[in-house]
Amino acid sequence: MKFFSPAKINLFLWVKEKRKDGYHELETVMQTIDFGDEIEWNIHDRGQISIECNCPEVPLDSSNLVWKAIEFFFQEARISNPGISVRINKKIPVGAGLGGGSSNAIRMLVALNRHFNCPLSETQMGLIANALGSDTHFFLKGGTWLYRGRGEIPVQEIDAVPLVYLLIFPGINSSTKMVYSRFIFDLTKPGPDPSLLLLKLKQGSLKEIKNAIVNNLTDAFVGCYHDAEELFIKISGEEKKQVFVSGSGSALFCLFDKEQEAIKMKGELEKRLNKTIVIARTYQCS
Ligand code: C5P
Repeated sequence: MKFFSPAKINLFLWVKEKRKDGYHELETVMQTIDFGDEIEWNIHDRGQISIECNCPEVPLDSSNLVWKAIEFFFQEARISNPGISVRINKKIPVGAGLGGGSSNAIRMLVALNRHFNCPLSETQMGLIANALGSDTHFFLKGGTWLYRGRGEIPVQEIDAVPLVYLLIFPGINSSTKMVYSRFIFDLTKPGPDPSLLLLKLKQGSLKEIKNAIVNNLTDAFVGCYHDAEELFIKISGEEKKQVFVSGSGSALFCLFDKEQEAIKMKGELEKRLNKTIVIARTYQCS
């Protein structure tokens, strides 16, 4: 059996104060895109979990979120684990701020629940998702959503205009923990309202959408990774392109409404930067 595990982009990320539990309160607008990993899985009768992956940075043991999702599923569904083998064909770079590991785990959970005739309710699935991470719940449905809390509280789904992304990978495995630890919250600065972006995503021009994109983790991210800062300055300065960071990095992205424009810019940037660049589009999970 096979499924597609999409990446996400944070079109809006406003991190606020650190809470008593160590997490930061935040507001974020996330969108799934048609760039992602392919996962092949099978049920066997050896009672164990095994994971294979083409990317050496991905752990193949119980620390992998996919492994944890499988264990949670059988435990909560009160079904004995027959044995599951999983092969992850990774395209989403690790530590890119694109939610690769979270997507893999949650789409695995969704695939298992569907295969076993939905023993788990939406609430149970949500609880498992929240036990696995902060940007995990979003992958239960995907699409375009506003989330709050530590990133696990769904607030509103948006019917967004289709967008085209150019993703630029600096080749850095960004540590979310480190970027958050470097983040300084300015209490005196009022936060932007994500409803402007939500409105523009429904009916605005590309220019208006781009002007409403926010990520206040950007300074903390480029402060942690000097090479990323150089690349960011090169694209936004020398190349004069509007470029953004997804989540806690390291992927950078530019936004288009026409694929042709994205193809043109991909060609231009590939000539000047020795980086992997891919084109992706807004994606709805099935
Ligand atoms: O929960 P998740 O594994 O996605 O988060 C990784 C790390 O990012 C956390 O351990 C925490 O240091 C930081 N984080 C945070 N506030 C959030 C989400 C993540 O401080 N809302």
